[in-house]
Amino acid sequence: MASPQSNGHPSIPSHHAPKPSSSPSARSLATAAIHGDDPLNSTTDVAPALHVSTTFRYPHDPTLLSPTDDLDIPARGPRDPTPADSHIYSRLTAPNTSRLELMLGEILGAPCLTYTSGLAAFHALLVHINPKVVAIGAGYHGCHGVLDIYRKLTNCRVVDLFDESTWQNDGEAWSLGKGDVVHLETPVNPSGLAYNISHYASLAHARGAFLTVDATFGPPPLQDPFKHGADYVMHSGTKYFGGHSDMLCGVLAVGMREEGWEGRYWGLYGERVFLGSVMGSLEGWLGVRSLRTLELRVGRQSGNAGRVVGWLDGCLNPKDGSEDSKIVKEVVQKVEHASLQKDDMSWLKEQMPNGFGPVFSVWMQTPEFAKRLPSKLELFHHATSLGGVESLIEWRRMSDQGVDERLCRVSVGVENWEDLRDDLMRAFRGLMEDGGGK
Ligand SMILES: Cc1ncc(COP(=O)(O)O)c(C=O)c1O
Repeated sequence: MASPQSNGHPSIPSHHAPKPSSSPSARSLATAAIHGDDPLNSTTDVAPALHVSTTFRYPHDPTLLSPTDDLDIPARGPRDPTPADSHIYSRLTAPNTSRLELMLGEILGAPCLTYTSGLAAFHALLVHINPKVVAIGAGYHGCHGVLDIYRKLTNCRVVDLFDESTWQNDGEAWSLGKGDVVHLETPVNPSGLAYNISHYASLAHARGAFLTVDATFGPPPLQDPFKHGADYVMHSGTKYFGGHSDMLCGVLAVGMREEGWEGRYWGLYGERVFLGSVMGSLEGWLGVRSLRTLELRVGRQSGNAGRVVGWLDGCLNPKDGSEDSKIVKEVVQKVEHASLQKDDMSWLKEQMPNGFGPVFSVWMQTPEFAKRLPSKLELFHHATSLGGVESLIEWRRMSDQGVDERLCRVSVGVENWEDLRDDLMRAFRGLMEDGGGK
């Protein structure tokens, strides 16, 4: 029989439990992704077990029963493991999601909470900060939808991130200031272009506002927004953290730069209990499975995207007039991707030292070409979303009413890049052969 722990729960023999790391933040991403959850690897399984229970037994010993309120702060630090015997009800914590959050904390270098989706995470962030003014630019239209709901409830003002003159109105005597939000998405959906995080951090902090960064398109190891002044970082974990197009997930990481971050973390934790937007256990399990290969996948996807974009750019700006280049120019008007932001490289190379995002956009010469390009491709699924191991292309008008009809968004997977290039070239040729694009 297992020996009882102090709380009356049975434990597994200690010689089977991996030792918790003494200095987790010193580990590289590759190691953290394999060992970040070791402190919760409390059974002899090598692959994590999937726990489906929504409710967990209290200690058997009545002397150990200590009644709690849902909002009591747990007896652990924000980045500490949630002990296996401390779960009560899965809307508060559950084994698989706790394990995922522990790993994410090490990978993002800040305590993390997970949510049912990226949009649920953004909603939780707005509810928590409760800003009166939000500066936001173009970017994922769904985040604007969340902000519309928040504005309906609070009458907050929404101003243009890219035009600081809109951040105040002297006549009406309001301005973006302390406790407000400057929200930056970089690289941005759908183009894949990047913005300077340090610049927006300075603007926000000069006014006492928070800089929140949606880093979905630039997951680790590509960028660390906290290094450049972000106060909160959010991700749609559905994309690169999941990486296999099979889980919805949102992540909020709370920056530790300013005093009071622990209170902000526990505030978000407590509010999530009542928003109810916690991930299911299967998603928590999938998340851990997926993070194991995060660095491998993202590195490969980023490299592939850089090569495909470089090839397309070479065709659009050829040194000689090759046949391929003539065809590409007939059907493609321009390509957008951070790797082509030549004038921004002084800050961009610092912000994204390990490569640019795996998403880029192709502006076709006509809406008809853009609508038909996906049907000509064999290796790219025509589907929305991004970040999975499989390459996707989307005629973006399918899911975003606000975009130019010539835009196709490409999410590059882990296939061989030359095969992807050849598939694109075949498709461009096919469009030309069909004619009638203009
Ligand atoms: C940049 C960005 N942020 C947030 C989201 C929302 O994420 P989710 O679909 O997980 O709610 C998306 C989804 O495409 C996105 O591209």
